[in-house]
Amino acid sequence: MKKIDAIIRPEKLDRVSDALNEKGHYAMTVSDVHGRGEQRGIRLQFRGKEVMVDLIPKIKVEIVVDAADAEEVVAIIKDKAYTGENGDGRIFVYDIDKSIQIRAE
Ligand SMILES: Nc1ncnc2c1ncn2[C@@H]1O[C@H](COP(=O)(O)OP(=O)(O)OP(=O)(O)O)[C@@H](O)[C@H]1O
Ligand SMILES: [Mg+2]
Repeated sequence: MKKIDAIIRPEKLDRVSDALNEKGHYAMTVSDVHGRGEQRGIRLQFRGKEVMVDLIPKIKVEIVVDAADAEEVVAIIKDKAYTGENGDGRIFVYDIDKSIQIRAE
């Protein structure tokens, strides 16, 4: 099994989620997070002054799938979360040892 953590733009969540659903990848955990990447935040104009915003709001989507499905999930997220601008996000893939369903015998 693989775990895919995708940090994406909040406004891209619906597109990503719908596309994953269409391909049968229903299970996911979604959180509001704040982060920064290679540009170390962004400069914004606020009341005529330049303000540095250090940590930018993002959405983290966590998905655990069979290893064979990981590439497809990554490809869907990459396609649906893309704008081509800085800050589109980042995808991390991990190996998973176990997934235990609590209600199962
Ligand atoms: N090395 C990292 N470790 C942990 N989180 C990261 C890392 N790089 C990016 N992130 C997370 O991903 C979010 C989006 O990052 P971002 O899209 O700016 O990545 P980037 O590598 O700077 O790419 P780009 O050049 O397209 O902006 C960040 O806000 C942060 O939450
Ligand atoms: Mg960046």
